[in-house]
Amino acid sequence: MVWSLQAPSDLSDHQFVQWSKLLEERTGIQLSSQQKTLLQSQVARRMRELGCSDYNQYFEQVTDGLPGLMEWSVLVDRLTVKETSFFRHRPSLEYVRRYLQNRINNRKLDKSFDIWSVGCASGEEPYSLAMVANDCFELAALDPYYGITGTDISQSALEQARTADYAKRKLEPLYPDEISRYFKRTDDERFVVAEKLRDRVCFSQGNVTRINSMPLVKMDVIFCQNLLVYFRRWLRRDILNAFADRLKPGGVLIIGLGEAADWEHPSLRRAMGTEVQAYIRDERQEQ
Ligand SMILES: C[S@@+](CC[C@H](N)C(=O)[O-])C[C@H]1O[C@@H](n2cnc3c(N)ncnc32)[C@H](O)[C@@H]1O
Repeated sequence: MVWSLQAPSDLSDHQFVQWSKLLEERTGIQLSSQQKTLLQSQVARRMRELGCSDYNQYFEQVTDGLPGLMEWSVLVDRLTVKETSFFRHRPSLEYVRRYLQNRINNRKLDKSFDIWSVGCASGEEPYSLAMVANDCFELAALDPYYGITGTDISQSALEQARTADYAKRKLEPLYPDEISRYFKRTDDERFVVAEKLRDRVCFSQGNVTRINSMPLVKMDVIFCQNLLVYFRRWLRRDILNAFADRLKPGGVLIIGLGEAADWEHPSLRRAMGTEVQAYIRDERQEQ
């Protein structure tokens, strides 16, 4: 393959369709034609790093067997939106708190309490869920097994998540009490998540559009926000149906507000309230 030092030119409409189809097939992410510049700039940036100036040649490389998949995992990191924050949608996190307190008060805890953060980006969401769970168990003076699994398609996001190390500005959405209890300040003014939370959270790469190949146990809480919005309606529905199958009886699924307005499932009922979009699995349902 001949690489050159010439800068890549503009993506043609045909090439845009080819690249966006590949992205959608492999991640579910659907791009609109307005996002052509975004796609072009990210693909071109990666091509410049490789010294390649021909989109077709690079396309062949990315779609060429196992080496192609390795290059794809670099490119996909550039094409996904990884914006996130601690307690990004506090009402949803507070819903989890009430749900868990209720389970504790009604003595409805199983052997373990399992939470899944789907599309967890750089970890702020699963660590926020861990803070909520730890608060509830500490308040009830209980020490059961509980764990949070964060999955994402992006390796670089997961690497960041595993370090559990954040800049000071990332802590802005947190209350002072949450910071003092759950973070350790480092000498260089960064903040590391406390070990007692880190021990509860594990991360693993997973593509939610291949959900059936993910080896996960049944969950008490499935939390998936700001991910389904990138997918077509039929794909959102299929993924939500698969989430429903992964819930324990009485488990809860929480998605972003308005991310699947008209979705329903025979084993789930929508929780009351307009601030949170949550669905509870029937307790008696045999699975
Ligand atoms: C906008 S962030 C949302 C992060 C977090 N859930 C929140 O609400 O703050 C979307 C995340 O979904 C991930 N993602 C995109 N497509 C995915 C897929 N097919 N499977 C799993 N994760 C995916 C991206 O890498 C990114 O980290």
